[in-house]
Amino acid sequence: MMAHDVTEPRILVLASGAGTNLQSLIDATTARDFPGRIVAVGCNRPQAVALERAALAGIETFTVDHTRYDSREAFDGRLRAEIDRYAPDLVVLAGFMRILTTDFVRAFHGRMLNIHPSLLPKYPGLNTHRRALEAGDRLHGVSIHFVTEDLDGGPVIAQAEVTVQPGDTAESLAERVQQREHVLYPIVVRWFCEGRLQLAGEQVLFDGEPLPQPFYLGE
Ligand code: GAR
Repeated sequence: MMAHDVTEPRILVLASGAGTNLQSLIDATTARDFPGRIVAVGCNRPQAVALERAALAGIETFTVDHTRYDSREAFDGRLRAEIDRYAPDLVVLAGFMRILTTDFVRAFHGRMLNIHPSLLPKYPGLNTHRRALEAGDRLHGVSIHFVTEDLDGGPVIAQAEVTVQPGDTAESLAERVQQREHVLYPIVVRWFCEGRLQLAGEQVLFDGEPLPQPFYLGE
């Protein structure tokens, strides 16, 4: 493997579960020409498969088990202390299933991304695939956005769509959405590492210009 440039952007990934998005980012960032590297993976669940994926790739890991903290503030304080040890340029939420406090979110303003399995602003929160099916939507998908204090409401950078097929279940839809996630997240993380993406207030800037609407990846 080629040695990484010490000046390239430092990425820290937070995950809670299977870590398939983490895997897509590991695969992308270990490619020779990727302009950033993952310096650590943090998890709130000690048993998360994401931790195994990171360890297999030789990436440092840490766990802050949310069940051991009696308030969101205490949990976030500890999480932030762990993150700060790695001085990341970018924090990537990849299936990190904790609601973060305002102080935490503010500390990473403009340098924290999230992936959400719906075409935001539709279906913030949980059970997005079931809700899209129940609403009879013909189009569903995934969004990547800057994290702000507004839960799943930060400015959207990019979306990829999935056509709902007759007979789809929440599970079959989730699987197809995830396939798109694994393509889209590395692209957006690359843009950030190349310095092409910024957040000015609530406005996404791409190459220094306001992004009029999210990038849209068709099927
Ligand atoms: C992904 O589908 C991601 O969009 C979703 O969790 C899954 C994690 O999968 N995120 C959210 O629901 C955030 N609100 P993974 O652990 O295999 O990457």
